[in-house]
This record gives sequence, structure tokens and C-alpha cells, in this order.
Amino acid sequence: MPRGLEPRYYVDDAVFALERERVFAGSWIPVCRVEDVAEPGDYVTYDLAGDPIVVTRTRAGELAALANVCRHRNMVIMRGAGNAPALQCPYHQWTYALDGSLTGAPQTAGVDGFDTAELCLPRLAVETWQGFVLVNTDVDAAPLAPQLAGLEPLLAGIRLDEMVRVGSIDWDQPWNWKVTFENYAESYHHRGVHGDTLQPLFPGERSRPCVEAGAPWMALDHESTVEGVDPFLVLGIYPLLWPTVVRPDAMVWLKIAVHGAAHATLTTEVFVHESRVDDEAHVAFQVDGIREINAQDIIPNRGVFAGMASRYAVPATLLPLEGAVDHFTRWYLARMA
Ligand SMILES: [Fe+2]
Repeated sequence: MPRGLEPRYYVDDAVFALERERVFAGSWIPVCRVEDVAEPGDYVTYDLAGDPIVVTRTRAGELAALANVCRHRNMVIMRGAGNAPALQCPYHQWTYALDGSLTGAPQTAGVDGFDTAELCLPRLAVETWQGFVLVNTDVDAAPLAPQLAGLEPLLAGIRLDEMVRVGSIDWDQPWNWKVTFENYAESYHHRGVHGDTLQPLFPGERSRPCVEAGAPWMALDHESTVEGVDPFLVLGIYPLLWPTVVRPDAMVWLKIAVHGAAHATLTTEVFVHESRVDDEAHVAFQVDGIREINAQDIIPNRGVFAGMASRYAVPATLLPLEGAVDHFTRWYLARMA
């Protein structure tokens, strides 16, 4: 019988420190959607497990992913998201171009040994996939798309890059990110947690994990038992890209920022295909649905995290319906080894 991770993996700060090096560094991590950085000057900030990052659209129209940490005294430079002509640190007003090069630093003219060329913001690799903008601390990282080749048949005819955001809710999560993911990656809990919402439409016993040995993704397909209700496909591209496709023309992205072993911020972002943004009933069904479903999921997430710290906690017993959790566990342990 497959088992889950040892409980210490969810609660130990030393494990989180190792995850920063072995799981988050060198992985493709989603920051935003292409539409969020469409115009020159657009920027979006993100906490990549303790590394402040900013993604920009440069004057030349390129995407850039940069460390959002001033080279002067390590102040975090930009906050939130928006449009700006340059990246200016609010502390001593050092100013960087949208590509990270240092273009201005007050009172530095004539200072011996001061070289702006040595003081550019470090760059990350940046890539887009299905309308998502992803970054990688490893500038020589292998591209993401070829690693997802096995997933393509499941997405046949679905254009995530044509989805438009119609709603978003922030949820503070004072628990470990893997608790959220492992709940997301199985629908065995529909009967216990979503008995009045998902279970009547998508019985957990009719969910189907779809995985490929060694590939960095899992999918969980669902059958609908009600005529006219679209089936949905839960996707997890390890470690942090979690879009659920409501076939064929809606998507809920569980965007997560991991801050520590016991803290993350989840944003549930709802998208519909651009052809249906004016369909108010379709939009409302998706937006109201995820608000209610995620509110239900908070209860087991909190409860599991509380139990994980107990002296009586054990590695999970993973049933066949939880096959995607088992697949993630194997990927994670291989990275952590
Ligand atoms: Fe759930």
C-alpha cells in the first residue's frame, strides 16, 4: 500500500529550507498570466518561497523575470502589480530599467569603484505555457513544454491561453502548501467535504488519476453524472501550477505563493473562454462555485495540518483514488533526495 510523506515534511522549518533549494529552485513556477504583463511597464511581483521576484514587460516588448531585491541594501523594490516606467527602490531611490539594469543611483557620480554594470538585478529564466508566465531560478533550465508532452492529449481542443480572468479571491493559508495540494489532487474527499456541492455532480468514486511515471505532472479526471454539467480536469504541474479545467471553456487557477513551512497565500482565480465572458450565468456559476468549494476545503486543510504536528501523526495511507497524491509524493522525494 503506497504511503504519503513523513509528517515532519509538513511542519519542519528545516524541510522548508531544503525545499527552497531542491524543489522550488530549478522548477518552473507560475507568477501570473500573459494578460497581466501585456504592455511595456506592466509588472507583477511574487514571493517565490522567500525570494521576492518581479516579472516585467520591457520597453522592447520582452518578458523579464528579475530578483525584486535592491543591489544596494537588499530592500524589496516593487510591491503588488501595476505599470511603471522603471523599477525604483523606495529606500535610496536606486532605479533599474524594466530589464533589470541599474540606470540611476543618487550621489554616486565619481565614487571610486562604483560600477553600475555590476549592480544589475539578477535574472531568472521566464517562459510561457498555455497563457501562464512561469519563472525558473535556473537560467539554463530545460524548457517546460516538452516535459508536459504526455499531458497534451488530455488538453486536446482546450485553449487555456484564450481564457480571460473574471474573478479572484485571496485566501490566507496558515498551513503547509503540500496539505493544500494533496487535498486538491484527490476527490475521494468529495463525499465527506463536498457532500452538498461536488459529490452529487462529480462523485469522488468516479474520479480517475492520470499520471505518467517520472513526468512532473498529474491529472485527475472526473465524470459528470448530470446531463449538461461539464466534467472537469484537475491538473497539477509540479510543484506549484494548479489549474483546473472545467471543460471546455472555463478554468479555475489555484495560484499559490509559499512563504514558509506553515504559511502560504492562495488566490482562486476564475477564467472563462473569451467567447463566453458576456455569459453572466456561466461566469457566476464558476465564481460562486469555487468560493463555496474552497471554503469547504479549508476545514480539512486546517484539520490535517493540526494533526500533522501530533506525536500520533503517521504517513498517509494512499488508496487507488489517491493515486495522484502518490505520484506527487514520489516526484517530491526524488527532488528532495
Ligand atoms: Fe475539495
